[in-house]
Amino acid sequence: MLSTGPLQLRLLSCVTILLVFHAVVAKKDLKSACSTCRQITDNFNKGFDRTAKQNFGGGNTAWEERKLSKYETSEIRLVEILEELCESSSFECNQMVEENEELFETWWFKRKTKNPDLHKWFCVETLKVCCPKGTFGPDCTACVGGSEKPCHGRGACDGDGTRGGNGKCSCDHGYKGDHCLDCTDGFFNAERNDTFSLCAECHAACKTCDGASSQDCDECKEGWEEDDQEACVDVNECARDPSPCKEEEYCLNSEGSYSCKACDEACSGCSGAGSDECQACANGYRHVEGSCKDIDECSEPEAVCTQEHQECLNTHGSYRCLCSAGFQDQDGECVQTQDQDQTEEPGSPDAAENSHGEL
Ligand SMILES: *[C@@H]1O[C@H](CO)[C@@H](O)[C@H](O)[C@H]1NC(C)=O
Repeated sequence: MLSTGPLQLRLLSCVTILLVFHAVVAKKDLKSACSTCRQITDNFNKGFDRTAKQNFGGGNTAWEERKLSKYETSEIRLVEILEELCESSSFECNQMVEENEELFETWWFKRKTKNPDLHKWFCVETLKVCCPKGTFGPDCTACVGGSEKPCHGRGACDGDGTRGGNGKCSCDHGYKGDHCLDCTDGFFNAERNDTFSLCAECHAACKTCDGASSQDCDECKEGWEEDDQEACVDVNECARDPSPCKEEEYCLNSEGSYSCKACDEACSGCSGAGSDECQACANGYRHVEGSCKDIDECSEPEAVCTQEHQECLNTHGSYRCLCSAGFQDQDGECVQTQDQDQTEEPGSPDAAENSHGEL
């Protein structure tokens, strides 16, 4: 795309691509900052559970017992949790933790009791990289359908729970529209009001419909046609003249479609599978009791392979003439195979020895 056209056009395309790229990256950053933050708070909660049974280590003295009750809320426990928040390879995660270490201390020592939900306090309210569930964008706007049931429960709201996104719904299969209350082709509204929609699948015969049966089609699907009772019924493509299949194939009808299958090798044209469905027999086959059977040319009264030292081999639909054992084909005649021992090949060990002796 960039390799053709005048220089200005090429530069323009470059600039456009860069701008679009930047816009996409910026939008993605807002979503990914939230997902990084969520990962951190999820790992914090895991670390909190993991350290629940721990203590300062060592024996179980009275002094330890006293200390043990304090490990729960200790700085040491916090540090142990903080150490396990990020994969070492995740730059974004480690950066977010490093930049906000003090915040974790503040929450740990001062806010935990009043704000037990760390994700809400840290990611939503303090860092403001996330939004509450069901809301999106810089101001945490409610998704279409309200934050309780984004997209009326029939889709995903873009940017849901993050400071990014545009709040548009991507509807589940069968649903469409800005509100995910409409049904796509092949589905109909089984239930519907301003806030709730249930889309059910049409009958296989319908492209569009307003009910579940083949009589409720608005339009028949390809391979189906309306009958005189206004229902969509299967079209029998195989009954068409000419047949939709090739000469050496037969047609198999199915609901809404058809397929073409190869005839048996015994047939020349057929109406179904097997050698008993032939229209005529293929060369080398003949009718025997209602089906096409291979002709054994070798046993026919009219003799074949009549040359001397020839034998006949029957094959499917034909036969071959072979030379008998000890004979081989030479220009269309079967001649006796020369005995290996009687052959004197030049350059053989014997010949070489002989020439040595002569010298
Ligand atoms: C819409 O339909 C649903 C399901 O039948 C029902 O729960 C809801 O109360 C209805 N809402 C309105 C506004 O009628």
